[in-house]
Formats: sequence, structure tokens, C-alpha cells
Amino acid sequence: MLEFNHYSVMLKESVDFIAPRKNGIYVDCTLGGGGHSLEILKRMGDSGRLIAVDRDEDAIRAASERLKNYKNITYIHDNYENIGEYIKDISKIDGAVMDLGVSSFQLDTAERGFSYMKTAPLDMRMNQTASKSAYDVVNGYTHGELCSILKRYGEEKQAKRIADRIVRAREDKPIETTTELAEIIKNAVGNSYDDKHPAKRTFQAIRIEVNDELGAIPKAIDSLVEKLSSGGVIAIISFHSLEDRIVKETLKKYEDGCTCPSGFPVCVCGFKKQLEILTRKPMLPSVCELEENSRSQSAKLRAARKIMEV
Ligand SMILES: C[S@@+](CC[C@H](N)C(=O)[O-])C[C@H]1O[C@@H](n2cnc3c(N)ncnc32)[C@H](O)[C@@H]1O
Repeated sequence: MLEFNHYSVMLKESVDFIAPRKNGIYVDCTLGGGGHSLEILKRMGDSGRLIAVDRDEDAIRAASERLKNYKNITYIHDNYENIGEYIKDISKIDGAVMDLGVSSFQLDTAERGFSYMKTAPLDMRMNQTASKSAYDVVNGYTHGELCSILKRYGEEKQAKRIADRIVRAREDKPIETTTELAEIIKNAVGNSYDDKHPAKRTFQAIRIEVNDELGAIPKAIDSLVEKLSSGGVIAIISFHSLEDRIVKETLKKYEDGCTCPSGFPVCVCGFKKQLEILTRKPMLPSVCELEENSRSQSAKLRAARKIMEV
């Protein structure tokens, strides 16, 4: 059996928001090790239904083994940006959870190539069947493209210096492994990051680019909000400021409703207010959780409730 270790972040808090009930239909967009799914399944009982998505085949395999005693779960191996396709024939869903980013399993499995601490081929694909890998980004992107993703997705202040070194290094031979890349970054920026590994931001940026992580979030939220029943809640856990900003802005769009300029006498856009935000400020992990799991440090939980049916 696949050893899939993942500590589910803000598990109780997020599932409390959703408050699964008997007969309900729920969606877990990020199945991972199945932690959030298991909690939803336990609370909704045999009569409900859970749709669980992950783009990582290993996650689907490990979670379906862990959850094998539950028959009312449907597994979908796909990007959650396509969730709308899978729920289009269901009249309503009663709640949804998204626990964004990578799992500890993905980070800790050296050969997946996510970690700058462990030597492995440059991969970082969440979906192992996807065509673009970190190798393609590192060895194939122009200097300008590298600079741009490091700035945009890594918020890396030394993007140009790192891109310079990557481009120079690959003139001799392609950059093949995670630790080779980490070493190039370290040589480019030295120890100018007191508390963080100098490769952390670059690896985050490349991972986001390889998996188009940010583009999928609003698409999934749009599809889920459209199908949420009145009173249904969507709960989303993010792990860095780029994700959190997208979550916040997308939920706010549904709280604001009408997008007409303020001077318009009547609404012509027809966009209705659909969500009530339940977390004015994002909820953070408890002190206990922070002590138990250092990876929860950057977690932020936002939740919103559907207020009307459209
Ligand atoms: C933080 S883990 C989820 C852990 C899970 N909630 C648990 O308790 O075990 C995130 C998971 O989401 C998956 N994932 C990330 N982006 C995705 C996307 N766009 N579509 C589908 N799955 C995605 C990853 O493959 C990973 O398994």
C-alpha cells in the first residue's frame, strides 16, 4: 500500500463551516490523503454523497484505500478547474472544501521533484501525466520568462540575478536535478534570506508555473458557487499570499454582486449578490496545530455561505 503521509490542516475548523448533514452532497476539490474527505464522510453518514477530486493519481490511489469502507464517494482524477463538468447534472451541492497547494506526501516524495532538499529529477508535476515539467521551465524558458515567473509567483526580489545564473549554467549543460538548481540559486543570492532557504521562493514559483496553480482557483470557485444550495458553505485553505488574494477577491465578487458603476440608476449587469463572507479576516491555525505541524504556519482559512438561489 502507498504510504501517504499528510497532516490535514485546519481540519475541524473547515469541516465545521461546511457542517455536513445527512443526505447532503459535498465536494472535496483537493482529496490529497483524504483527511478532509474522511471528516465529511463521517459526519454526513451513509445517505449523503461526496465527490472527491485530485489531479494526482497517487493521491487518488492512497485515499481510495484509506476510505475503502465508504461507498458513497466518487473519485475524480482531474484538475479541479473542471469541477463544473462533473457536477453539471447535479441539481445542487451542499458544501465544498478546497485545501490548496501541495500535500506533504508530494513534498516528501523525493522523486516527485518538489523539494530543494532532496536530489531528484526536476519534475514538480502534480499530475504525473501532464506534459510540462520543471525541467522544461528551467531549461526552456527565456531569461525574461524566468524573471517574470520568479517575480510574479515567487515574489522573489532577486529574480533577475537568479535568472542570470540559471541561463548561464544551462549554457554548459541542461540543469537536471532539484539540488543542482538549489545550488545555482544559493550561489546567485548567497545567504541573504535569514530564516528561509534561498531556493524556497524560486521553487514555489516554478511549481506554480508548472501546474498553473493560480488560474484554476477562480474557475473552481465559480463552478462551486453556481451549484451551492442556499445555506451551503464553501471553505478554502490557502498557503501563500498569492493564493489567499485570489480566494479573497473571488469570494468578494460574489458578496458584492452588481458590478455596474456607482452612478448607474439601475443595474444593467444582472450580477447578483450570492455569498455572505463568514470570515471577515481569514481564520488561522490554533497554537496547538502550529506546534504539531509546522507546515500549517502559513495557512489561512476563508469561508462563505450561499445566500440565495439563482
Ligand atoms: C494540501 S493537499 C490536500 C490534503 C487533503 N485535504 C487531506 O486532508 O489529506 C492538496 C492536494 O490538492 C491537489 N491539487 C492541487 N491543485 C489541484 C488542482 N488544480 N486540481 C486537482 N487537485 C489539485 C494536490 O495534488 C494535493 O493532493
